[in-house]
Amino acid sequence: MDDVPVLHHLALNESPYPPLPSVRKAMRRAVAQAHRYPQFYPDDLVERIAAWCRVPPDHVVVGSGSVGVALQLLQAVIERGDTMAYAWRTFDAYPLLAAMVGAQPVAVPLSTDGRQDLDALLSALDRRTRVVVLCNPHNPTGSLVTAAPLSAFLRRVPPHVTVLLDEAYVEFARDPDLPNTSALLDAHSNLLVLRTFSKAYGLAALRVGYGLGAPDLVARVRRQQLPFGINAVAAAAVRASLRAGGELGRRVDTVVAERERLRHRLAGAGWHVRPSQANSLWLAAPDPVDEGAAALTRGGVRARHYPGEGIRLTIGSPQANDAVLAALSDVWRHAAHTDADRPRRGDHAAASRHGLIRSP
Ligand SMILES: Cc1ncc(COP(=O)(O)O)c(C=O)c1O
Repeated sequence: MDDVPVLHHLALNESPYPPLPSVRKAMRRAVAQAHRYPQFYPDDLVERIAAWCRVPPDHVVVGSGSVGVALQLLQAVIERGDTMAYAWRTFDAYPLLAAMVGAQPVAVPLSTDGRQDLDALLSALDRRTRVVVLCNPHNPTGSLVTAAPLSAFLRRVPPHVTVLLDEAYVEFARDPDLPNTSALLDAHSNLLVLRTFSKAYGLAALRVGYGLGAPDLVARVRRQQLPFGINAVAAAAVRASLRAGGELGRRVDTVVAERERLRHRLAGAGWHVRPSQANSLWLAAPDPVDEGAAALTRGGVRARHYPGEGIRLTIGSPQANDAVLAALSDVWRHAAHTDADRPRRGDHAAASRHGLIRSP
């Protein structure tokens, strides 16, 4: 199957849209000045993002993608041997970042319905814990911690623990119980909210993300900032994207509409797809995810496959999503033929017998 060309790249939760013409124009102008250094620290970008988020500039830190801001936070607060807790599975970078700063990772299993288990995360915090990560909406499941449970969680996190609230996908969330981030930031000085221009804003290659937090925490995170670390082409693209908020918002609406179309169509084909608030859908064992992954590869679709566990499907263009539907529509029918005994979701004991789910 190696020789099937990849026609649709749906493995990295990227935007299906290339940069807007106005953004490309701004980038071309910046390229023409590429013999000049960018700002020593990206103060201008910080001010623009702060104005756009309606917070003072000392509440904002910019970094090399949101993953860069996360690393800066860890460098600021972690000492070798401290622990860092997160739900697992989650965004692959968190264990890598923990290793980079010498933190001991504490991976807390997701609940069986793909949610971050807030009580278990709280129980994992002790005096050695410096950071707890919550990903909201969650990668890879797309689940959301809604406003009331998140507030209750934050109230119970001890003050010596910094909460890294990763909102890389927040622009795709439509749940009416979405947490109000600015109210949370006002109430909790140990909270850093991560956002990115990589996903909804479609600038993944340019590596710009930002953090929002209380001035003391932001100042500590900024101390880890690399001088000249944000390149001028990326800064120009972000400035132009902020001016094009309406147009970009309509693109996000289209992705959300496609997410719902794909979810309903996959459900009609037998897949147990849970609601997602991100730009992706999560198909989980005991659904036939390995067969599904093989069918996607045959159909020219590259999705993120976790063998025996799940498939994370990025929402692509309508054409790409149709290719997903074409590939996945028959998998259940075929699976039912070849394995009448296949377990259904919820039948986890049977699923374990079939080796389709791992015990936590
Ligand atoms: C939850 C989550 N956070 C952060 C990122 C990284 O974003 P950035 O490109 O801003 O570093 C990703 C990328 O997939 C992600 O899934």
